[in-house]
Amino acid sequence: MGLLKNGDKHSQAPAGGFWIAPSILSADFGILKEELEAAATAGANWIHVDVMDGHFVPNITMGPGQVKSIRPYSKLPFDCHLMVTHPEQWIEKFARAGADLITFHAEAVKNHSEIIQKIHAQNCWAGISIKPDTAVEEILEVLDEVDLVLVMSVYPGFSGQKFIPDVIPKIKKLKNLKKEKNFLIQVDGGVDVENIKELFEAGADVFVAGSAIFSKQDRLKAINELKRMMTKK
Ligand code: DX5
Ligand code: ZN
Repeated sequence: MGLLKNGDKHSQAPAGGFWIAPSILSADFGILKEELEAAATAGANWIHVDVMDGHFVPNITMGPGQVKSIRPYSKLPFDCHLMVTHPEQWIEKFARAGADLITFHAEAVKNHSEIIQKIHAQNCWAGISIKPDTAVEEILEVLDEVDLVLVMSVYPGFSGQKFIPDVIPKIKKLKNLKKEKNFLIQVDGGVDVENIKELFEAGADVFVAGSAIFSKQDRLKAINELKRMMTKK
């Protein structure tokens, strides 16, 4: 559990140089303990936790109480993606519940630095996310401060949506911008065996996948397929 706070983030990468973060939004909530164990056994690197408030997005998922109750069932870092209107109200609560990385949406708040500082004050990695129609230029000022940039490849709210290829140039742009910086690029939404290689080549480091993993009976095979596609010649 936990993410190393110091040093180059890329040097912490698992074999292959990429991270797989299954989104438990697509898991069976009736057996989350088993789902978390299955994901870890199958070679997941982080657990992606989608938090929706019914306001920033038209859906409601889980709060800090649920995160706290499932925290004992996984040793993997919890990557909490806050799709909420007031992230500042939730940072401390999710950190206490066991989040290791907290990502907020650039569109939700004006002062990005303030939120990043609040997340770091909780000893968590800080991520900033942009929706498919938000430009990289909106977050340029904080690229020195964040640990991760999450490029949404669907409009946030639901799992199982179709991947939007128009976001790939944003990943390429971020890859160029990160040469001198220390953040990871994460992609989330509709990631599957068809597009993961292109996303990896574009510069993504961390791949969130919900349906591509949890809709499959054999999670080990699903994760291995994703990994295999990335390294395929
Ligand atoms: C969408 C969420 C995603 C989504 C991923 O709002 O942030 O994490 O659940 O699920 P798939 O991989 O099915 O698009
Ligand atoms: Zn997500």
